Amino acid sequence: MRSMRGLIEVEGLEFSHGRERGSDARGGGSWSLRVPELTIEDGSTVGIVGESGSGKSTLIRILCGLLPVAAGSATFRGKEIADWLRIGGREFRRQNQLVFQNPSGSFDPRMTMGRSVAEPVKAIERRAPTGAEIAGWLSEVGLRGEILRRYPHELSGGQLQRVAIARALSLRPSVLYADEPTSALDVSVQAQVLNLLMDLRENLGLTLVMVSHDIVVVAELCEYLVVMKDGGIVETGRTDDVMRRPRASYTEELIAAAERVSLR
Ligand SMILES: Nc1ncnc2c1ncn2[C@@H]1O[C@H](COP(=O)(O)OP(=O)(O)OP(=O)(O)O)[C@@H](O)[C@H]1O
Ligand SMILES: [Mg+2]
Repeated sequence: MRSMRGLIEVEGLEFSHGRERGSDARGGGSWSLRVPELTIEDGSTVGIVGESGSGKSTLIRILCGLLPVAAGSATFRGKEIADWLRIGGREFRRQNQLVFQNPSGSFDPRMTMGRSVAEPVKAIERRAPTGAEIAGWLSEVGLRGEILRRYPHELSGGQLQRVAIARALSLRPSVLYADEPTSALDVSVQAQVLNLLMDLRENLGLTLVMVSHDIVVVAELCEYLVVMKDGGIVETGRTDDVMRRPRASYTEELIAAAERVSLR
């Protein structure tokens, strides 16, 4: 995944949950992430896979600036993320948006959908979007304008996730991080939401980084795969290469496990 056009570049990245770096005690239940090298190219689609607890969410939260880089380097457009957050934090947030797994947890239950969708533009661009703009963002995700007056509990999970996507894309980000965007949804709507994401990323020229448990699903959607285990990356590469000739035995296990599930 190395190239001169790395939109996001990581080198020697380290991060620990639950402990300050440099603490002298070893072990004792802290969990760390180590990424020697990772490059994400502008406009690419990257699937991050691995078992629960392997560090997928932690990695993308660092890349979004929600968790700090404890050691090493993580850059966006050639500038350290920490530096972006010091000077240019709003622009960094505008360009790097995140959609979470559970859409109902992403909305304030007391706010109409219209107010929720307007929030990022208000906070980041410091202006109130027009009704026509908001309706336009909703129509991009296949929703009608009437949804604006409704509250989160009045929408289905699939509709809510579409609104969450509309809200993230209202800022016209460069990168959309989607952390298991469909795993909380009914199986019947999962494919619709995934197809929507892929259409939007094509139309808007987004870089899409998608986290999933299911290597077969992300392999269908993404050009590149990052396979994680125990806080490290065991394999990265073009999806075709990884799926046809996995180098890590862990990747083979993931493929075999996903194929067993899909045969059920
Ligand atoms: N805020 C936190 N404080 C302490 N430990 C955490 C915190 N968040 C995550 N962890 C731990 O870090 C490890 C990696 O978690 P992470 O959420 O990144 O995994 P994941 O690959 O996204 O898993 P899943 O597929 O279940 O979402 C886990 O052991 C988790 O318990
Ligand atoms: Mg996770």
